[in-house]
Amino acid sequence: MHFPVEKFNLLETPFYYYDTDLLRETLRTISQETGRYSQYHVHYAVKANANPRILSIIREYDLGADCVSGGEIKAVMKAGFPADKIVFAGVGKADWEIKLGLEAGIYCFNVESIPELENIDKLAGEMGKTAPVALRINPNIDAHTHHYITTGLNENKFGISLNHFEKVLDYLPKLSHVHFKGLHFHIGSQIVDMSPFQMLCNRINEIQENLFRRGIVVDVINVGGGLGVDYQTPDQHPVPDFANYFAVFHKYLKLFSQQHLFFELGRAVVCQCGSLITRVLYVKEGENKKFAIVDAGMTDLIRPALYQAHHHIENIVSSRAIESYDVVGPICESSDCFGQNVPLSGTFRGDFIAIRSAGAYGEIMASQYNCRRLPGSHCSDEI
Ligand code: LLP
Repeated sequence: MHFPVEKFNLLETPFYYYDTDLLRETLRTISQETGRYSQYHVHYAVKANANPRILSIIREYDLGADCVSGGEIKAVMKAGFPADKIVFAGVGKADWEIKLGLEAGIYCFNVESIPELENIDKLAGEMGKTAPVALRINPNIDAHTHHYITTGLNENKFGISLNHFEKVLDYLPKLSHVHFKGLHFHIGSQIVDMSPFQMLCNRINEIQENLFRRGIVVDVINVGGGLGVDYQTPDQHPVPDFANYFAVFHKYLKLFSQQHLFFELGRAVVCQCGSLITRVLYVKEGENKKFAIVDAGMTDLIRPALYQAHHHIENIVSSRAIESYDVVGPICESSDCFGQNVPLSGTFRGDFIAIRSAGAYGEIMASQYNCRRLPGSHCSDEI
């Protein structure tokens, strides 16, 4: 990736830098690949990045939005996403959030439990509306990803278990202010091996056969998100392999001709276009290692501290010989470390460091711990 370092000199660090050409290339690829299948639609998972400029670019490519809070619904509506392209998920929707969704006329609520269903029915009744709902089913599939980001196992808090599903179906006709629109699934995130998705397709086929026996064909099957990216070598795979991903569903998932298939991709859309740019404050000699102390910390990008996540790190101004550094931030926590034994070109105070693949779950997860400022953000087409 090319970084306009001369322009960075004028900016306060740390900041997120978004390469909007790469974002657009990614979005074009998604449009092209979903264009092969008339029933496929992508809803961008806003939780990955809700930067207004990023949202408005995504909107240009006609994606819908997958929201998990009232705040996200407001953010996407402000960015111009039409309400009928919004789906609203989450295990704990508050009344004001449900009312906001009903008022706006969103496409559907992805419902995770009977008590939630009852509450939505009650609120919709009070407002004189009918709430479109999809039931989120926990398909009990192991996505073999980090345990903090796996969601489709029985032991996770998400969705309705397969054992309870029949009970929910029997109960649905008793609720007069909800309209049963679809089934929702999500098995986890950062999935790079396609076999869990294949297993998901098989599980959905079984469920659909059972529903068909009961005379039910839903409008929508929503398979969630989860497609992973290459954190190790981002320049080799700047755009994830969407063709292969959609082809798995085409090959293994049986859809009725009138059904729509929704995807909720977050990371795969925005991850590779973003980098966290930080300046080296000090280079400190340790006992037998060197520390590059940078002005970004875990408050700006929490993924390494929280998930032991790997991000490729590079010195974007030095062309000196490679040396090994622990790249650490200024926060008073030992976990405030972006990488150990990172090979960097000889590094000095003032150098710019890029922490790559930070477009997803980066800026949006920033905090003000230690009373720090939130990181800035700049898009390549604006600086
Ligand atoms: N749909 C649902 C219901 C989800 O829970 C998620 C992510 C997505 C879609 C989008 O998944 P994606 O396509 O981005 O994998 N903060 C963590 C990731 C948490 C993911 C939570 N759910 C990280 O930094 O890795």
